[in-house]
Amino acid sequence: MAAGMDHALPVARHYDSLDELYRRVWGEHVHHGLWTTPRDPPALAARALAERVAAGAGIAPGDVVVDVGCGYGATARLLARERGAAVTGLTLSPAQAAAAPPQPGVEILVRDWLANGLPDAEFDAAIAIESLSHMPDKPRVFAELARVVKPGGRVAIVDWLARERPGRLERRLLLDPICREGHLPGLHAASEYEAWLTANGFTVTGSHDLTKRAVRTWAVVARRLPGVLARDPRLLAAAWPERAFLPSLARIPFAERTGAMRLGLLEARR
Ligand SMILES: C[S@@+](CC[C@H](N)C(=O)[O-])C[C@H]1O[C@@H](n2cnc3c(N)ncnc32)[C@H](O)[C@@H]1O
Repeated sequence: MAAGMDHALPVARHYDSLDELYRRVWGEHVHHGLWTTPRDPPALAARALAERVAAGAGIAPGDVVVDVGCGYGATARLLARERGAAVTGLTLSPAQAAAAPPQPGVEILVRDWLANGLPDAEFDAAIAIESLSHMPDKPRVFAELARVVKPGGRVAIVDWLARERPGRLERRLLLDPICREGHLPGLHAASEYEAWLTANGFTVTGSHDLTKRAVRTWAVVARRLPGVLARDPRLLAAAWPERAFLPSLARIPFAERTGAMRLGLLEARR
């Protein structure tokens, strides 16, 4: 793995240990769903979020796209298949890259975004779905986006955010433990992401709070998890090193329902 820094190893281990469990519980998209009606099946909601990101980044045929923190590459494949893009996806997890089905127009690299080695001004667009929150040194995260995206290029980011100015108890009981349990260096407000984008030469064209349409995701996870583990206890052993994440499965939906935590979508143009 080309993950060169201290932050990368625990994140890589998290996704490697939980690889099979995540695929059984979440499927190929490891991100929130976006529900239009409560009756939407989870797979449709997952796809809806990916499509919202594709639309937010204005992905069109022939675009060269980087998917920062691509997981199993499900969104990268969707962009290639349905929008005619050529996509390079980066993940820290060798297990994710190995499990990603190959598809023409999609290349998955096991590589740290903070040491990505990609050429300057290579991409028409960048997307990042629920990955940037794992990364320390946010000024550098955004500087790398500005470096690899062409002038005029587009960015769409979905990420776990905090409310603007969370209270002391929200931090102590929700946000700080969620960060500790999920290998997140910190949760930031939408305004901080907007400031990092602006400081790196992007114009923010959209900032949306998707939380209300997405929080149902955690009910789906809670419903599926016991059955998946009961059917295959081997997965419990594999997941054991990451057991600290378990309380977050209750903390996150609580934080999202009370507004302490948000699922944000930011759109920008360079
Ligand atoms: C919650 S998963 C989301 C995966 C994918 N975007 C999706 O929506 O299915 C987080 C992803 O971010 C990746 N990631 C986290 N930190 C990273 C870093 N520094 N460089 C590259 N990828 C990173 C992880 O490897 C993982 O694939």
